[in-house]
Amino acid sequence: MKEFPLSKVYRFIEPGPVILLSTFNGQKNNVMTLSYCMVIDDSVPLFAVSMGAWDFSFDVLLSERECVVSIPADDMLEKTVDIGNCTGADTDKFDKFDLTTVKAAKVKAPLIKECPVNLECIIEDDSLLNRYNLIILRVVKAWCSQEHFRKIHHNGDGTFTVDSDPIDMKSRMTRWPEYIS
Ligand SMILES: Cc1cc2nc3c(=O)[nH]c(=O)nc-3n(C[C@H](O)[C@H](O)[C@H](O)COP(=O)(O)O)c2cc1C
Repeated sequence: MKEFPLSKVYRFIEPGPVILLSTFNGQKNNVMTLSYCMVIDDSVPLFAVSMGAWDFSFDVLLSERECVVSIPADDMLEKTVDIGNCTGADTDKFDKFDLTTVKAAKVKAPLIKECPVNLECIIEDDSLLNRYNLIILRVVKAWCSQEHFRKIHHNGDGTFTVDSDPIDMKSRMTRWPEYIS
């Protein structure tokens, strides 16, 4: 084995799937791409996102305290990358990327029709923001048109991997029955 640079270790500890996070600032919708997200508590449910203050979405999320997290499938790979390479500061991304908005039930940001999963979220805790750029979100309403699909994962170096077909290991999950239904 060769020594590996610490600055690239994150590539091996792959976070959750690449997500789209939408906000509404009272005037317009915006959407950003985000790959640093992880589950914090599965029953509430809570998950954390790491968001940079340079993102236009950052101030909007912190002031509105709510957003929609949409999970794209691999058919949206190019759009998902491009959405993360431009900013809502000067671009209407919903228009540019031809995303279909659907009214959410509990938050003002829109669901994205093209995504199989849409999660309406509010900020649960931002006390780790200054230290780790972490924002913990609580899902308050969830929508799903398809449970298993090819989610997108960023390898951290500009390359991406998409999920393979699910492999059924339910019969071996004997200690965790709550996870197999
Ligand atoms: C694949 C990919 C993953 C990204 N992951 C994150 C992330 O985890 N956190 C973050 O703050 N920005 C992330 N970005 C960058 C934002 O998507 C980018 O800064 C975007 O332009 C912000 O949009 P906004 O200025 O409209 O908010 C990612 C971009 C790409 C392409």
